[in-house]
Amino acid sequence: MCGIIGYTGILDAKKVLTEGLQELEYRGYDSAGIAYFMDNTIKTIKQEGKVSCLCESVKETAAEDVTTCGIGHTRWATHGGVSTTNSHPHTFGKVTLIHNGIIENYKSLEEELQQKGMEPVSQTDSEIAAMVINDCYEGNPVKAIKAAVAKLEGAYAFCIMFEDFPGVIYAIRAGSPLVATHTEKGTIIASDMVALLKYSKNYFVLPEHHIARLTVDDITITNMEHQVVEPKMLHVNWDVASARKGGYDYFMLKEIHEQPEALKNTIGPRMVNDLPDFSEDHIPDSLFTDINRVIITACGTAMHAGLVGKNMIESLTRIPVTVDIASEFRYQNPILDKHTLIITISQSGETADTLAALRLAKENGSKTLSIVNVKGSSIARESDYVLYTHAGPEIAVASTKAYTVQLAAMYLFAFRFAYAKGLLSEEDTKKYMRKLENTIQTVEELLSYDEEVKPIGKKLKKTKDLFFIGRGLDYALASEGSIKLKEISYIHSEVYAAGELKHGTISLITDNVPVIALATQANVYAKMISNIREVRSRGAKVILITNADAHVDASLCDYHIMLPEMDDAFTPFGAAIILQYIAYYAAVSRGLNVDQPRNLAKSVTVE
Ligand code: F6R
Repeated sequence: MCGIIGYTGILDAKKVLTEGLQELEYRGYDSAGIAYFMDNTIKTIKQEGKVSCLCESVKETAAEDVTTCGIGHTRWATHGGVSTTNSHPHTFGKVTLIHNGIIENYKSLEEELQQKGMEPVSQTDSEIAAMVINDCYEGNPVKAIKAAVAKLEGAYAFCIMFEDFPGVIYAIRAGSPLVATHTEKGTIIASDMVALLKYSKNYFVLPEHHIARLTVDDITITNMEHQVVEPKMLHVNWDVASARKGGYDYFMLKEIHEQPEALKNTIGPRMVNDLPDFSEDHIPDSLFTDINRVIITACGTAMHAGLVGKNMIESLTRIPVTVDIASEFRYQNPILDKHTLIITISQSGETADTLAALRLAKENGSKTLSIVNVKGSSIARESDYVLYTHAGPEIAVASTKAYTVQLAAMYLFAFRFAYAKGLLSEEDTKKYMRKLENTIQTVEELLSYDEEVKPIGKKLKKTKDLFFIGRGLDYALASEGSIKLKEISYIHSEVYAAGELKHGTISLITDNVPVIALATQANVYAKMISNIREVRSRGAKVILITNADAHVDASLCDYHIMLPEMDDAFTPFGAAIILQYIAYYAAVSRGLNVDQPRNLAKSVTVE
């Protein structure tokens, strides 16, 4: 949600900022802007639309400006519509800032400021923050920031420039992420590591409620008591190419193709002598013997990975697992105790609701483990234990590779859990591990199914409504297929447990309504076939996905995709690729921007 970047150094700051915003654009893309020091003044350029529109504006209006210090922002609108006025940076008095987050009490602050005779020009909460900081400013930026944030409620990451301090950027965060690095060419701070990769692979996460002061030579961090704090340096082994499209039309397609590698990197280091091994993750077996209940909580695709994980954990350990949407879990007064393990799953590690659910679990004395892709992110840092997925940077808004590695992490967890509790013998655990490892090869094979799926995508070009049906694991997976299709192709779809359809929804199945039926599970295969016949006889166009050994009567469906030979418990890894391709090719056939779907943004740091 909103990408922010600040740079001060010896390079062309406009170039650093606009290039950085292009890397961060997946976080929000309805408007963008930069502000920079020109001698002792601050100049601002803002533009509604994509970062490329801002780049044009910068070329047209400021080609001659030479600057080495500035801040930049790409917006995902929350308060105030999409307009140039509402885009960042916002300036009030001596203060120019960019903001990611939401200031919840901005209305009451606005009223206070109005009583003092000050009027904002935009409808944003961010401008109010600039006004509050300016109101607190008497020549000392740190004092002003400290006094201002004491008045703010909500989540924020700010980069702030004070007109009186050319070449200096101040930053502070609460909730929203900020990472920074120091290089020979200056200092740089951003919402996400992908904007820093070009300059360094070493970085640190700005601790919450600490103020960073960036100059050409150094970054100083002080806490609220004005003590200097040394940040903990982190390292990523992502390279710049991993955050580029690399010849693919879209990041999403590239990321679909990166799944075998991502799975290898996630499973490989945890497979020791063919057994699941969490020693490098510092997860002791005592964790498994201490718990009698698991709650998985997450949002969107990550939550769908939890639904698949539940199935495997329960079937191997017979320990009850519930899966909750994080934004619901938080408010339903959940029953938590020290024998409950809360697993939070998150690609970004910054999703506000997931983070809040984790905090709630900790407050109530539960143990916490997170499955996270971004190293050093808030959810990872605040969990008792972390199982990092190694998908590399995921740029497309629609999650693909992060999902399959989340599945892998869930399976590894289930295997170790059952093994540690003595419920799975060494031999059987090894068998499961080998099957998990084999999914890498199968996923690789499935990447070449694009030619088979493309015609399905084309067929969906004019579709308005569609249904996904499945049972058991297939139902869990269908939830993911449905969100993927909706978010990038804008086709309305609903997912139904196949047996439930006839309890109401089948009234919507009429001639030519597409139904994507997942029937990969032998134990419910016959029941699925009956359900498919039910929709077929009402005119549905059926796209059927089965496991390799299914005998499918040609009259049953219009398209049949048969997965390569896979154990039933592992078919989500394979079928996920088909569902990702269906969504991708449907969106492409409708001429949509697959990587930047409307109204969405990656990393949802607002509640
Ligand atoms: C869908 C998608 C979202 C995210 C959700 C959680 O393709 O990407 O549904 O899965 O916003 O995000 P993370 O995993 O970063 O917590």
